[in-house]
Formats: sequence, structure tokens, C-alpha cells
Amino acid sequence: MAPHVNILKGDPDSLRECARLLESNELVAVPTETVYGLAGNALSIEAVRKIFSVKGRPLIDPLITHFKSADSAFSHVHAPEQAQVLASRFWPGPLTLVLEKMPDIPDLVTAGLNSVAIRVPNQPLMLALLQQLDFPLAAPSANPFGYVSPTRPEHVAQTLGPKIGAILDGGSCQHGLESTILDLREPQAPRLLRPGPICADEIETTLGCKVHTAKKNASGAAQTSPGQLTQHYSPRTQMELVAHGQLTSPPSTGEAFVLQKKPIDPSPNGLYWLSEDGDLKEVARNLFNLIQKLDGMQLARIVVEAAPPEGIGAAINDRLHRAAARS
Ligand code: TXA
Ligand code: MG
Repeated sequence: MAPHVNILKGDPDSLRECARLLESNELVAVPTETVYGLAGNALSIEAVRKIFSVKGRPLIDPLITHFKSADSAFSHVHAPEQAQVLASRFWPGPLTLVLEKMPDIPDLVTAGLNSVAIRVPNQPLMLALLQQLDFPLAAPSANPFGYVSPTRPEHVAQTLGPKIGAILDGGSCQHGLESTILDLREPQAPRLLRPGPICADEIETTLGCKVHTAKKNASGAAQTSPGQLTQHYSPRTQMELVAHGQLTSPPSTGEAFVLQKKPIDPSPNGLYWLSEDGDLKEVARNLFNLIQKLDGMQLARIVVEAAPPEGIGAAINDRLHRAAARS
């Protein structure tokens, strides 16, 4: 029998119930336009401690704090003009800004750093919930530490369900990939810490300056922000990544091959695809859901074709590299 999980639809009574749970320092899994978040009162040490413990997340990995509006977010940080410009262009939306924090953001949220990651999410239920609260919500992705991020309520139910107060059901997430993270502490030289739905060139055009990308570490993988481990977002099943266009032979028994778009001959067993026609937004939306579905099929191996590197393809490939990495 499935473990007990309190899944709430987005009617006014449910939103009030979520607000009540959060006000009592309980955790609620919330929908955002990127992935589901495991939310708690960002200003409460008790709630933030629960987030780390329920996720099994090391305390050195800082959390993103979610606000109802840019004004509310900027009252907790030192915000340069560039932050205001980006906020008016991209918020509410999938862009997280790392800025110097004010003292009221607990050190536990930021893993002791004097910076905090902030964003205003663009999901109607999440925004309605934030508007009912008089505190912001700390929320990492609502998956056990290191596992694939959830893009549907049932993903959260299967992994964290019985450990949390409720799941607010907002259906499937619009983008399906975590937010873009930009370090703006040096506003003239912004640094991309994690690629995401908002691409570096959109940020460059908006700010009129170059966005630097994170340095590679010794093993050649991007070591981006604190807690951004090379191996992350991993299914339990062995996963391999092959270059775009190189997945040509049919899969063997016990294998799944995942293509970027529907093949001309879709009939061989074990073939899956992430979009009908190669639309990268559709690929991003379906990626984590398909990986989690395949991960439940007791396969020997999942082989995934990389996305072409343009646009959101960079963020898709970043997640695929991490999912396929084995430490
Ligand atoms: O789309 C998203 O960003 C989702 C939704 C729920 O908002 N959240 C998310 O959170 O992906 P999480 O915890 O899985 O990833 C957040 C990452 C951390 O791993 C950390 O690397 C980075 O944000 N981060 C947080 N605070 C930071 C800081 N002060 N400086 C640098 N990086 C930071
Ligand atoms: Mg995460």
C-alpha cells in the first residue's frame, strides 16, 4: 500500500491549510514553475533544520529563499541596480540571484555564507501561498539529496511523502529544470553558477555586460556554487550520456535509449524520446519525469542522447552530465 501522503489541491481551504502548516514550522512541498520545492519558513531555524534533515542534505549546501515580490526580496539583501533591472525583466520567474544578505536571514539557510540566493517564483499557487504568509520560504528541490528533482506531485509523494506535512498539487512544472543561478555580488561581472531556463545571453542582453561562467574543477566538470556537486540529480539505475546524434543502434534487452526527439522508426523495444520534434523546452519539461519513470523499471542501463548545446540545451546537458557522473 502507498504510504500516507497529504496531497492538497489548490482551493482556498487547501492554501490556508498549507499556510497553517508552514506557520507551525512544518514542511510543505510546493509547486514552482521549475521543479517542486520542499518549503519551510526561511526565518525559522526549526523549520530550516527540518528541510536539511528530511532531504538528507549536508548543512554546507545553502538553500534558495523564495519571496512574494521583488520588493520583499530586496528588503533582505544589498541589491545593486543590476539586480533591480534583472528582477523587472525576469521576476516572477526562473532566475535566482546570489546577493549579500542582511542579518535577518539565518546562517543555517546560507550555510554560513554572507550571501543568500533569492527568487520570486512564477507559479500561481505558490505565489498565492507566499502572499498569505508574513515570511519567505526556503525551498530546495523536493527530492532526497542527490536524486532527480521532482516535476510532479507524485514524484514527491514517492520519495518524501510521509515525512512532510503536505504536498500542494500544482500539476506538472512548466519548465521542468531548476532555475538559473546568477552570482551578482560583483554587479559589473556577474557569474553564472547554474545554467537554467533563462539563458546567459538573455542576461547579457538585459545587463549589457558579459556573464562569466563557472570554472571547471580538476576532473573537468563545472564546480559551480557551494553544494553544486558533480554527481547530482542521479537515478539509481546506471546512466550513460552519448553525444547528440550518436545514439543510432537499437537498445539491447534491459536497456532504455532516450532520444531527444521521436525517431523515424519508433518501433524497437526500449526506445524513448523527450519530444516529438526536438523542441528543447519540451525536452526540459519531460526530462526528469522520464528519468524517474525509467528508474522504476529495474533496467540494467539507461543511455541518453545529449541535447544540442543551444539555448536551454546547455542546462539540459548540465543536468545530464551530473546524472550520468559516478563518483
Ligand atoms: O528552481 C529552483 O531553483 C528550485 C525551486 C524549488 O526554486 N530550487 C532548487 O534548489 O533547485 P536546490 O537547493 O536544489 O539548489 C539550489 C542551489 C544549491 O545547491 C546551491 O548550490 C545554490 O543554490 N545556492 C544557494 N545559496 C547560495 C549562495 N548563497 N551562494 C551560492 N550558491 C547558492
Ligand atoms: Mg536540488
